Amino acid sequence: MAVIGIMDSGSGGLSVFREIRRLLPRSRFLYFSDNAFCPYGDKTADFIRQRCDVITRELLGKGAEVIVVACNTATAAAIASLRETFPVPFIGMEPAVKPAALGTKSGVIGVLATAGTLKASKYLITKGLYGSGVRIVEHVGSGFVELVENGILEGPEAEKRCAQSLLPLLEAGADTVVLGCTHYPFLLGTLQKVAAAQGYPDVRFIDPAPAVARRLVTVLQETGLPAEDAHPGTELLSSGPEDTLRSLYELINKEDTAPEGL
Ligand code: DGL
Repeated sequence: MAVIGIMDSGSGGLSVFREIRRLLPRSRFLYFSDNAFCPYGDKTADFIRQRCDVITRELLGKGAEVIVVACNTATAAAIASLRETFPVPFIGMEPAVKPAALGTKSGVIGVLATAGTLKASKYLITKGLYGSGVRIVEHVGSGFVELVENGILEGPEAEKRCAQSLLPLLEAGADTVVLGCTHYPFLLGTLQKVAAAQGYPDVRFIDPAPAVARRLVTVLQETGLPAEDAHPGTELLSSGPEDTLRSLYELINKEDTAPEGL
């Protein structure tokens, strides 16, 4: 019986949880939103490491046997120290520069992420490994995390914010945009709308969550942890108010139970 812990600075990691649950519908999940300390994007790496340490102890105390750090910023700041400190497997996030670089036709890829992710050595190494031969343009998704944490996924305010961060990438020629923060997939509909309205209807957005979910399945197989649990389901945990967490959780549940075509 494997209990899978998932953590993020807030509700963004639910975009990763959604993909994981599609592959592992009979597992037991503990999802921790650190929303009392969100956003992580502008915090120091030391602070994020301390928070990840506290959250990991809580998840392990509740029985987690494998932990997904469903946050690019926390992965960049803390995954190495988590792996050194705790004796369970950790799966982290990484901006999907590799598939973007392989798929671009214009030779320009855009990366939307937090300031913390874009300046972290982990991202710089990824860029060095996979970004040669393409031009990479980057932008912080300014205000995106706050929009999602306030449950604002569409409408004029979301469109304005999305346009401010996305258009510079499209104007620079990016035909592929990496969503390098787990909150951003919740704004995908608005990002697509803004791109189309500005004359870029064919831009491709890449969310690494499905690849992370597949990686988790592989890790479970490699470590011999059974994916199925006698008590499948999800427990939501948080360090702050739970309204948005619960409403986004309901939203992904509704999407996953909607009949085909809806
Ligand atoms: N969802 C997180 C990420 O993937 C963190 C966003 C934040 O708290 O700034 O980077």
